[in-house]
Amino acid sequence: MDKFVIKGGRRLTGEVTISGAKNAAVALLPAVILCDEPCILENVPSISDVNICLRILKEMGAEVTSLGKDSYRIDPTNIDKCCVPYETARKMRASYYFLGSLLGKFNKARVSMPGGCPLGDRPIDQHLKAFSALGAEYTLSQGMIDLRAEKLTGNQIFFDVVSVGATMNAILAAVKAQGLTVIENAAKEPHIVDLANFLNSMGANIMGAGTDVIKIRGVEHLHGTSYSVIPDQIEAGTFMIVAAATKGDVLVKNVIPKHLESITKKLEKIGVNIEQFDDSIRVWVDGPLVKTSVKTTPHPGFPTDMQPQIATLLTLAEGTSIVTEGVWEQRFRYVDELRRMGADISVDGKVAVIEGTGKLMGAPVKACDLRAGAALIIAGLAASGITEIEDIFHVERGYDCMEGKLRALGADIEKVSFPDADAESESSARKTAI
Ligand code: UD1
Repeated sequence: MDKFVIKGGRRLTGEVTISGAKNAAVALLPAVILCDEPCILENVPSISDVNICLRILKEMGAEVTSLGKDSYRIDPTNIDKCCVPYETARKMRASYYFLGSLLGKFNKARVSMPGGCPLGDRPIDQHLKAFSALGAEYTLSQGMIDLRAEKLTGNQIFFDVVSVGATMNAILAAVKAQGLTVIENAAKEPHIVDLANFLNSMGANIMGAGTDVIKIRGVEHLHGTSYSVIPDQIEAGTFMIVAAATKGDVLVKNVIPKHLESITKKLEKIGVNIEQFDDSIRVWVDGPLVKTSVKTTPHPGFPTDMQPQIATLLTLAEGTSIVTEGVWEQRFRYVDELRRMGADISVDGKVAVIEGTGKLMGAPVKACDLRAGAALIIAGLAASGITEIEDIFHVERGYDCMEGKLRALGADIEKVSFPDADAESESSARKTAI
């Protein structure tokens, strides 16, 4: 097992380059199945969720060729299996995108129900609603979802809740369906626009991505393309908070500043200095950090995937801050670990009250999910003394070379292997990876 050992208290300075977006890549890779020719994907992050997607594609019969660190040529023309088994699907929540892409291409799909969930209830009723509207029938048995359609026909899909995954899956299934599909109450996250742009670059006809009404006119054929994944909004936001929490001065490069607006505005309220350039943002602190309130909502609101990181920053600010989680039912599980580091946070349902103490102390802690892991790294960097973070495989699901990038900014962080005494607990934690 690996853990991060961080000697905190250093001011981080310098430049960091942000990788491709995890939440875009895990949808774009399954989307390649829809294409009738090979595709080249660039700016693909080196993270374990991407490795799982690539493995699934290979197991189905796709030919995957690495073209250097961040680029792949994927030839889907020999795919002959429409099944994603439990053993692979349970490792990554986003394996559900294979439902939409397989259905869209072959009119059938068999994918294991995604694994357990540490963020609260994570239903897929809206995904199934979209598939049904397009003409598919589904059965759930033995933990597998089976989708089948005689043919897919465009239709009106109205989502009862704003769901990133269901919007992506509806696009994937509708892109080759006959006629017009109209998705209403669609999610508007940058990765939805990226999926639509990627498919449009293959010849799809998708309009309105990034608004709450998306129109898709089905096409018969999708041709090969070469496409670069957008930069990761959440990795960028995480490094912005790393800079703020260590009272540092960091230029965060390869970003789309527009995607970071809600994060930038909140940080400015907290007293963080921000200067925006075309594709980079400088973040520095030269005065006190002050309290604020944050509520997470779907895009363009403050992202739920930045909630643990900003809550950690607010433990270092003066005054009482309120953080309200507006997307997931259980996203404060990391708070117990922050308390071990001296944070004063009380949680009541979806609301956390943070009494800023201005300081944190190193402690042994455990990451309970991806962004919780990022929050503990931020806490460890800002804390006095040594922080040891276990279960860092969560972090490696979504951050490309986190410790290397932090070290380049001056952090004292090391990845250390330690004896596998707790192997069983890691294996059960891995089963609930999202
Ligand atoms: C995606 C992101 C995740 C992020 C989340 C919200 C990926 C791979 N993951 O997850 O990092 O935290 O968006 O920005 O992109 N819901 C239903 N029924 C459904 C689907 C969702 O009720 O069929 C509810 C969920 O319980 C949740 C809300 O809708 O309360 C939002 O979920 P959703 O946007 O679907 O999240 P994911 O796509 O799973």
